Amino acid sequence: MTEPILQVEHLTKRFGGVTAVEDVSFEVFPGEIVAVIGPNGAGKTTLFNMITCFTPPTEGRVKLSGENITNKKIFELAPLGMMRTFQNLEVFGSMTAIENLMTGISVQLKNRVFAAGFRLKSAREEEQYAYEKAMELIELTGLQGLEHTLVEQMSYGQQKKVEFAQTIISNPRLVLLDEPMAGLNEVETEAMADTILQMRDRGMTFLFVEHKMATIMRIADRIVVLDFGKKIAEGTPAEIQKNEDVIRAYIGGDLDDVKSS
Ligand SMILES: Nc1ncnc2c1ncn2[C@@H]1O[C@H](COP(=O)(O)OP(=O)(O)OP(=O)(O)O)[C@@H](O)[C@H]1O
Ligand SMILES: [Mg+2]
Repeated sequence: MTEPILQVEHLTKRFGGVTAVEDVSFEVFPGEIVAVIGPNGAGKTTLFNMITCFTPPTEGRVKLSGENITNKKIFELAPLGMMRTFQNLEVFGSMTAIENLMTGISVQLKNRVFAAGFRLKSAREEEQYAYEKAMELIELTGLQGLEHTLVEQMSYGQQKKVEFAQTIISNPRLVLLDEPMAGLNEVETEAMADTILQMRDRGMTFLFVEHKMATIMRIADRIVVLDFGKKIAEGTPAEIQKNEDVIRAYIGGDLDDVKSS
């Protein structure tokens, strides 16, 4: 059987008296697209913060391809092939799209294994490589014609595309996205979903938090459901849609979304 790329083992996070995440365990396998859903405040972002070493867990551990990464530093994760986005947009507004992307590639160029494989000899060669790679991502995310536009002059949806492109430009193995479709219109949401599917076909693995149920149901292979910090369900979209505990957790909230999609 394939080894999981990500193992989340008994993660718990307490903030004073608040238990934001309680004893959550699950695995993600290479090539999967796994969604984490749950009502507001369920602990999804806190879970992501622990997986990506932004917040130390109170209990539990995280393994990346079998290696315990629980006590790593944030900057150690990109070279190991893990990248993430944040719930709030994180882009350099005063830089152009292509400049943003070229900063993303520096992660990959600093990776010694990669550098040795490609034998990029000079700074000029590196820059040429970064430029070509950035242009490839511009096209892939549908930002053609905007490569030299300042990011702060773009629409929110376009800025989200820049952020996504910057996150995946270094060819991470595992990508965590915290609400990649939030604030996007329907067309933009579907385009983002399609890009995720496309990158999965190129070998990337995705774990993402979202509230947009129809899109989750379309692209996720599996779904992990959190409620009040606990994992209350895990399964395929079809299984989750008819799970009684999930339906109960969403009563008064997004229940109709869950049922109708
Ligand atoms: N730094 C912190 N200090 C204290 N409490 C926190 C902190 N971060 C999160 N919490 C609490 O932990 C719980 C989970 O929050 P979290 O942001 O992880 O939820 P979420 O599922 O991402 O919600 P949303 O869907 O609104 O983004 C909430 O009760 C929140 O108030
Ligand atoms: Mg959140």
